[in-house]
Amino acid sequence: MGMSQAMVKIQQLHGGMVGMGMIFEETYRPFFENAYQHGIHDSRTGIISLDIAAVASRTGKRAAQYKESAGDRINDFTSYVEPDSMQQLLAHDIDFVCVATPDDRHFDAAMAAIAAGKHVLIEKPSVLSLQELDQLIAAAQSAGVICKVVYHKLFDPDHKKLRTLVHDNILQHVNNGYCTLLEPKEISGAQFAEWIQGRNPGTYVAVHYIKLIDFTFGGKLKSVSCTGQRGLVGEAHGNTWDSVQLQMIYEYEGGREAAFDIHTSWVTPDNFPGYVEQEVQFRFDNGVWNGHSRKRGVECTVEEKTPHIMKNSMNNHYNGTFVEPNGRRSQRGYGIEVLEQFAREVAFVKNSAGPDDQALRLKEIQALNYNDISADRQTVATVQAMEAILDEHAAGNPNCIVNVNDPQGGLVMYSLGVREGKVLYDGQV
Ligand SMILES: NC(=O)c1ccc[n+]([C@@H]2O[C@H](COP(=O)([O-])OP(=O)(O)OC[C@H]3O[C@@H](n4cnc5c(N)ncnc54)[C@H](O)[C@@H]3O)[C@@H](O)[C@H]2O)c1
Repeated sequence: MGMSQAMVKIQQLHGGMVGMGMIFEETYRPFFENAYQHGIHDSRTGIISLDIAAVASRTGKRAAQYKESAGDRINDFTSYVEPDSMQQLLAHDIDFVCVATPDDRHFDAAMAAIAAGKHVLIEKPSVLSLQELDQLIAAAQSAGVICKVVYHKLFDPDHKKLRTLVHDNILQHVNNGYCTLLEPKEISGAQFAEWIQGRNPGTYVAVHYIKLIDFTFGGKLKSVSCTGQRGLVGEAHGNTWDSVQLQMIYEYEGGREAAFDIHTSWVTPDNFPGYVEQEVQFRFDNGVWNGHSRKRGVECTVEEKTPHIMKNSMNNHYNGTFVEPNGRRSQRGYGIEVLEQFAREVAFVKNSAGPDDQALRLKEIQALNYNDISADRQTVATVQAMEAILDEHAAGNPNCIVNVNDPQGGLVMYSLGVREGKVLYDGQV
């Protein structure tokens, strides 16, 4: 860090990583490598020097491959495998733990990390029920740690602009909208084959847009309904879903409502021209916002590469690899920025001048509702409702609807023609 080192404060952070799969490769790997090689700058904390102290995964295979291929791009780290990889990881001198296991395994890992007094960052969706969310929020509060969720689409410059226009009241009162996110077959067929049984693409990808809508427009979630299709990833009448169509109703100030449809799939053909198809449209009292993440500018054809080894359209804003104008190779984008922001938040809390200052700093960081676990209630409620409706559908009772903060409870699922609802969560959402 050169000549100015004497003048610049340096804060050391050690990270732990749980899960070394696809998302580790896409965003955590470049985050840890960039931070290890160059540090992270924060105007309030100084330079944050950061390494990856230890990782935990099921078999350790990808961790070993990574260590081999990364060489001196990353520090030496310890790799733990099942059984009990988590407890071994937590015995390390680490400040924070990143949880990137399949989403039905987030809760246990996050609770164990909090119990060990570590700050936590969880991949989206945080957890799959409000019951689990309540426990996480309470545990983080009593342990005095921050517990955050990664929703990197909030850092996409296009989505930041959308939110800015709404925030500044240039786009006024959203009435309705749609979002679609289509993943290739390779995701359901190979990448997630280990844990896909009984799962759906809505929880995995619609959650990006559930959060975007919740965070950008505010309001109160009123009801959730959904349906889906089966027969490619699993049985035609089974409980593993190919595609899902979700609808959420929100209420805003003055009692006006809005409806949002989110369509997702993980069975799009692999020769599709982009990595994922992502499109949104939101209609306001005084305007329309159209966004297309795949068609935002670049189309490139390379003989014998596109569209299989390389895609025709690429998202250079997410985690693009570049040769910078000054010759340095880099990997940067909003998928990595969101993780760096978490590191700054941990460093800010850790850098306190004493217990009182620490409590104030913790409060400030916990109040950031773009990523705090305590602000994830309506997103988790939607996911829990969607999963319950799909389970009920697979059990032979399709087209249920979940009402939010109903006289019977916080989340109540109703079947067609049946007056009595089933309470999924009895507290207030
Ligand atoms: N933000 C995004 O756009 C994005 C993209 C992909 C995945 N994700 C999220 O990241 C998480 C992981 O997804 P992925 O695509 O990397 O999955 P993956 O299947 O590629 O990898 C999962 C990893 O978790 C490990 N693991 C599984 N069970 C474990 C356990 N009990 N203890 C320790 N390690 C365990 C596996 O060994 C593997 O390394 C999911 O929550 C997913 O929703 C986010």
